Amino acid sequence: MMTPFQSGIIAEASSDALFITLNVNRSEIDTLTSALAATPALIGELQAQFPDAELHAAVGLSSLIWDELDSARPKFLAPFPHITGKDIELVSTDVDLVLHIRSSRHDVTYQLGQVLFTALGKSVTLVDEVSCFKYLDNRDLTGFVDGTENPAGEQRKSVALVGDEDSSFKQGSYFNLMRFVHDLEKWEKEDLKTQEDVYGRTKHTNQEYPSSEKSVHAHTKRTSLKDENGESLEILRHSMPFASLTEKGLMFASYSKTPVIFNMMLESMVKGDENGNTDNLMKYTQATTGQAFFIPSNDWLQSCAN
Ligand code: HEM
Repeated sequence: MMTPFQSGIIAEASSDALFITLNVNRSEIDTLTSALAATPALIGELQAQFPDAELHAAVGLSSLIWDELDSARPKFLAPFPHITGKDIELVSTDVDLVLHIRSSRHDVTYQLGQVLFTALGKSVTLVDEVSCFKYLDNRDLTGFVDGTENPAGEQRKSVALVGDEDSSFKQGSYFNLMRFVHDLEKWEKEDLKTQEDVYGRTKHTNQEYPSSEKSVHAHTKRTSLKDENGESLEILRHSMPFASLTEKGLMFASYSKTPVIFNMMLESMVKGDENGNTDNLMKYTQATTGQAFFIPSNDWLQSCAN
């Protein structure tokens, strides 16, 4: 049965993923709306054909294209933020559309990518496609398990899905995508303790450091944020590694009911805390893209052709 939200948002971690980014040819908006309206059915057909492939997808639109399709707007839909820190400047590389496809079978992931790209036809131009894989037991290529502190069970929905606070866009989600290229040569020269301090977690046993031992520069310190009532601010991450022999990195991907939390985490990493303490992980990796999208509900997609 089709969920009201796009299934790629909530589903558990996958072993294979494909991130496709696209721009829209503005003279082909009718082709685009028909294709978007058809996507829930097209995804459903392949899910039915390959029931064991754990196939899930999410189709999203950025602030650049949204107004061409709907006169109402998700409350917080905005371009990717421009964040300048002491050593790093992050810029938006926003595009119009994203397809996030994942499954346990590379062939099925590919097939859905092909089906959706064909359906979009002349309405889009391909910007980029990045194929990702599960590395060992869900490790980033720096060798650390990624995704451990993700929300679990029903909490995934309360973290990732828009609720009554924006009722016209309920069951949607805000999606952020960043392509990070790692300097593994530099990383691998570091001893184990230095690497573990960078994350604030142990490498082999994947244990969190006691907070008294965590550096203010640790990645998990800089991204563990709380609101004014002391409640944790969370996002749902579906990041996965990509690699060729010459370029290796992480497609950072996260869903949230508001992009504000992601933006705060990124600021905390790049601008740092009140004393300017930034995230040491950023010394070993460089963001080459930064994009923000809204992933509408299946109902919204289906109503697109009207
Ligand atoms: C935690 C890797 C970028 C947000 C972690 C962990 C790893 C990791 C290994 C520890 C285990 C866990 O998942 O809980 C990376 C890498 C990145 C990256 C390799 C880029 C190259 C980001 C970005 C954000 C982010 C851009 C958000 C703006 C988080 C959050 C946690 C986390 C919220 C959980 C913190 C906690 O509660 O302990 N990341 N990450 N990460 N990361 Fe990242």
